[in-house]
Amino acid sequence: MVFLLSAALAVGVWTKGGGPVTLREAAAKRRLLFGTAVAARYLNEPDYVEVLGREFSQAEPENEMKFGSLHPRPDTDPNPYDFKDADAIVDFALAHKMKVRGHCFVWYQQVARWVTAGTHTPEELSTILKNHIDTVAKHFAGKVYAWDVVNEAVMDDGSMRHTVWYDRPGIGLADKGTGYIEQAFQWAHDADRRAKLYYNDYSCETINPKSDGIYAMLQDFKKRRVPVDGVGFQMHIGLWANNPTTLDSIRKNFQRFADLGLDIQITEMDVSLSDNKPETLAQEADLYRAITDICVHQRRVKAIQTWGFTDKHSWISQFNRSRGWALPFDDKYQAKPAYAAILEALSDKR
Ligand code: XIL
Repeated sequence: MVFLLSAALAVGVWTKGGGPVTLREAAAKRRLLFGTAVAARYLNEPDYVEVLGREFSQAEPENEMKFGSLHPRPDTDPNPYDFKDADAIVDFALAHKMKVRGHCFVWYQQVARWVTAGTHTPEELSTILKNHIDTVAKHFAGKVYAWDVVNEAVMDDGSMRHTVWYDRPGIGLADKGTGYIEQAFQWAHDADRRAKLYYNDYSCETINPKSDGIYAMLQDFKKRRVPVDGVGFQMHIGLWANNPTTLDSIRKNFQRFADLGLDIQITEMDVSLSDNKPETLAQEADLYRAITDICVHQRRVKAIQTWGFTDKHSWISQFNRSRGWALPFDDKYQAKPAYAAILEALSDKR
């Protein structure tokens, strides 16, 4: 009996009242949230909502809070906004004691056609974006605790991406580099002073020209007290990342952003595979374990979030049919080796 008890204690979070614990419980013990992207259209699938409510403590709408989804009609229309799908996700999340992360105010994709059509002056676009941020932030104030204010504004070489909001034609700050990003953070802060405000991007997890550019921008913002609270690393990766050099670079990169006084979240993790052979799934698990381990040992990391949770509904195969199997649950909602590996890393007492 004593032996059984100490064996159970030794494996920590693996057992509790006899049953395995969940990602959200294991993460909570490390003061972390464990999140996932959520799509409103699956909320009527019993397996989907069961696993979502059980395993995750943070939810982020996969598409439903993007400009085009929330604001499909111009402000001259009597009814410019559609909040229904986003509200459904927020209601589900709050009913299951999950935090909600908003995604996103400023992005160059999935913008409504009435905005991208090219009929507005910079002055008009500035008013449109300010009002959009104000309306959306206030609609979700007190429910959405953190926002991706700006998503994917930097290119791989660290330069600014040319977008409708920056310089095509932009909101009037086309010649001011990161100025339009700063403006968006200020508007978001003015609209909801309690929300945590994040800059979010992909391919900037390691130290490289892109993360250097983002680092320089956020260092400047911090120095001048632009209201930015955190940086989101999307972490759309593959098995190429599973080597000591890459993992070490991720660790060092996280540390330099942490040293700026920023919170960090992994916002969209998935590990895209080309097959689901047992040995491939084992390598995927190793990579999930390694990334979780980095997060557990970086005090500034506040959440680990995957971009969906079941291989049944992952965006990866939408874009490349020969790839997939990127998430911790398979297409039948069964936990994969990656799931056990994450739990293990979360419960590791090193
Ligand atoms: C993706 C969604 O998952 C897809 O359903 C949609 O068709 C396109 O956008 N980076 C982001 C996310 O910030 O918003 C993207 O989401 C994936 C890449």
